[in-house]
Amino acid sequence: MIEQSLPRVILITGTPGVGKTSVGLSLKKRGFTILNLNDFIINNGLYFGFDYPRGSVIIDDIKLQEILFNELLYYPKIVFIEGHTSELVPNDFVDSIFVIRCNPGILRERLKLSRDYSNEKIAENIQAEIMEECLLSVKRAFPSKPIYEIDSTNNTPEMIVNKILFRMQL
Ligand SMILES: Nc1ncnc2c1ncn2[C@@H]1O[C@H](COP(=O)(O)OP(=O)(O)OP(=O)(O)O)[C@@H](O)[C@H]1O
Ligand SMILES: [Mg+2]
Repeated sequence: MIEQSLPRVILITGTPGVGKTSVGLSLKKRGFTILNLNDFIINNGLYFGFDYPRGSVIIDDIKLQEILFNELLYYPKIVFIEGHTSELVPNDFVDSIFVIRCNPGILRERLKLSRDYSNEKIAENIQAEIMEECLLSVKRAFPSKPIYEIDSTNNTPEMIVNKILFRMQL
């Protein structure tokens, strides 16, 4: 019988626009496996529908956890998962969490330049960053796991990856 075990999952979370996907691409270039949680949810239909006023999907978190579990069995020993809803990853899978942070004024500029969000949606995201919503979500979901914050304001994605790999001794 083939023995299957779950990999060590390292989460990368943070408010939209802080640079999670950029960090993920940099990790991929260095040969690491990275799963984009948003893409995974969309590609596998793990949502009930679309919340048009908020411009986001309504995630089927029970189905997400089931499908993710089956998927992770076939992944290498270390997997990075990035997404601003990382708190939905089951606690048992998670090794460590990195929360990417950004100065709200700089985040506003990044969102204006890279997204076609309404002013209202940009303001909502800036407020989420100021209120540390992603940090609080992972603290609630993973109270016994190590959580590290990394500031992306003056750090390139490559510099952030160096800090993550150093911290994880990878
Ligand atoms: N460390 C950084 N320094 C400067 N600009 C950055 C940095 N990281 C990302 N950016 C820029 O900010 C924008 C948003 O980056 P990215 O798409 O990686 O954010 P994200 O956290 O994945 O957002 P979302 O949650 O919406 O997927 C992009 O234009 C990207 O080039
Ligand atoms: Mg992204």
